[in-house]
Amino acid sequence: MLESKKIREGLYWVGATDYSRRLFDALIPLPDGTSYNAYIVKGTEKTALIDSVDPDMADTLLDNIKGIERLDYIISNHAEQDHSGAIPAVLRVHPEAKVVTNPKGKGLLSSHLGIKEDRFITVADGETLDLGGRTLEFIYIPWVHWPETMATYLREDRVLFSCDLFGSHLATSGLYSSREEKVTEAVKRYYAEVMMPFRTIIRKHLAKLDGYQIDIIAPSHGPVHNEPAAVVAAHKEWVSDERKNTVLLPYISMHGSTLKMVDHLTDALCEEGIKVERFDLTVTDAGRYAVSLVDAATIVVATPSFLTGAHPHVVSAAFLANALRPKLRFGAVIGSYAWGTRMVEQVTDLLSGLKLDMMEPVLVKGDPRGDGFKALDALASEIKKRHKEDGIELS
Ligand code: FEO
Repeated sequence: MLESKKIREGLYWVGATDYSRRLFDALIPLPDGTSYNAYIVKGTEKTALIDSVDPDMADTLLDNIKGIERLDYIISNHAEQDHSGAIPAVLRVHPEAKVVTNPKGKGLLSSHLGIKEDRFITVADGETLDLGGRTLEFIYIPWVHWPETMATYLREDRVLFSCDLFGSHLATSGLYSSREEKVTEAVKRYYAEVMMPFRTIIRKHLAKLDGYQIDIIAPSHGPVHNEPAAVVAAHKEWVSDERKNTVLLPYISMHGSTLKMVDHLTDALCEEGIKVERFDLTVTDAGRYAVSLVDAATIVVATPSFLTGAHPHVVSAAFLANALRPKLRFGAVIGSYAWGTRMVEQVTDLLSGLKLDMMEPVLVKGDPRGDGFKALDALASEIKKRHKEDGIELS
């Protein structure tokens, strides 16, 4: 095990850093790569491995733990393959080891990896495992991505192995987040892409974790948080109902008419003191778009009519917003069409899961002129009014 990856005596990071991976779930861009974090915890009697790594990097994990003669437990906090995929390889090298997880985790590990019944020990919420001078406590935190997710708390060292929660897709040579300038942005991006759909349940988990003294958070991706207060506070803010005086403006323009409307609305909103975050969907990084969804109060979707509906890139952006379940409050559709269109109904339907308070759309036939621009000015004023009524702090 690498001395540079020692957290405490008998406590090591043994995962794999993937500097070159550029896509997760065949969807999410990874501009800074990622890491699959696994940890060795040694007690005086027993040794445990917390999680494993992506199966493509199983050899790296096996190399990192080759000094371990007897491995008693493999703790599986999360059955998704980027953390569990190398467990079968570890079990082949360590046939003495048992896989410790919760009943849901056991079911998922069996179906995904074919791990046999007699290899499992299942644990309940709050149950502990004594390693000899070190105690692991299992804390159920379902839906910090999948329904079986749990955290493991190392009591004596006050270390929380938090699974995907508090993670980041950030490949670094160092161990700790306090030395990484990019970590704040990477953690928010990770929250937006993975955690945001489960915002309300995570709020309860954060309250539950407040009952633990935590000196170190060791997540499943990205650097270890050795000064965890800031990352916990940031998550509390993101999962809260507090929204920012910001309009998210994803758009497509095919011949320039919708772009003129977007430009006009941007200026009008700025005049009203509202921040605008624009995304040209022909070039947008889905991760950056997701980050903007975290705390904006309003989304205005701008699309030209494509055949009789919204542009396919707009359909995709609306679908993603709906799937990520941000705390948006208000919505509107604007755009230009040539003869007839159902784009307002289509986009409104795609966003229906967010239960937005939808405002009057602004549709222009052909090139926008006087009345169209006036309608956009009115929309900007209406957005300001709604933000104010909703108690959003106006800047
Ligand atoms: Fe990093 Fe949900 O797996």
